[in-house]
Amino acid sequence: MTTTMTIQIPVKELDNPLAAEVVGLDLNQDLDDQTIKGLFDAWMAYPVLVVRDQELSPERQLSYSRRFGELRGHSVKELLHPDYPELLVLSNRGRGGAQPINNGGAYWHSDITYEETPPMGSILHGVITPPEGGDTLYADMTRAYDALDDATKSQIDGLKAVHTYRTRYEAMMNAGVRPVKTEEELAQWADVLHPVARTHPVTGKKAIFVNEGFTSRIDGMSDNESRDLLERLCEHSTQDQFVYRHKWRQGDVVMWDNRCTMHKATDYDLSHERSMHRGTVCGDRPY
Ligand code: OGA
Ligand code: MN
Repeated sequence: MTTTMTIQIPVKELDNPLAAEVVGLDLNQDLDDQTIKGLFDAWMAYPVLVVRDQELSPERQLSYSRRFGELRGHSVKELLHPDYPELLVLSNRGRGGAQPINNGGAYWHSDITYEETPPMGSILHGVITPPEGGDTLYADMTRAYDALDDATKSQIDGLKAVHTYRTRYEAMMNAGVRPVKTEEELAQWADVLHPVARTHPVTGKKAIFVNEGFTSRIDGMSDNESRDLLERLCEHSTQDQFVYRHKWRQGDVVMWDNRCTMHKATDYDLSHERSMHRGTVCGDRPY
């Protein structure tokens, strides 16, 4: 089905209303402002926007990503491309000279929520993808919020949650899947507070904004209460009805809105190469 709605570029809806594919676009062309505006509107309507069959150099991927806002790197510098400090490289072969890594995180998360101003969006390009597996799952946190019962909505209204990278990073470091850091380096990841339900600055819609990866607790709740609520929200948000599974094809570009989605990597046969490049677009402080 092809819909246009108020969107100026045609999109094809994918098998969950969260996601759509933009067809007939070549991201190696210099896109005019109107096309970018159309893409931006489509992105706001479909928080997971897919463009297939692209072959982007690091420069091209960054210049395309930059059309949507200022770009940023990552606090784990080992994962950045040595020649392009804004390009995050997720490559199990360490392609381009970055530290090898199997994927971007096999746990539900939204990118970098452990900072005060997390990125609004991430633009991931499948440079080399394995023949099967290594899918990425995306959860629609807006529809998940809407589907909460009224009691839970009022329970979480006004609550804040603590986010930190430290616990997650240490666990991954100890499992040998992230570079080893000293105590001093680990201490850079201080706790930050974000609302449990945030308002999307463009659409005005509310979305659940806690995640398995980086949310350590609900501020002001007992350990048990906090754990129960976080588990319940994660379980609720990741029901099949809210989830889109992206099966990567080489050349895919998937853009997601971190303010209203979570995502999670899945396993694949590590004897195959999986190399992905990510451009990360700065965002605002959640409210
Ligand atoms: C990311 C990420 C998931 C994957 O790029 O932020 O989490 O499947 N990627 O590698
Ligand atoms: Mn991620």
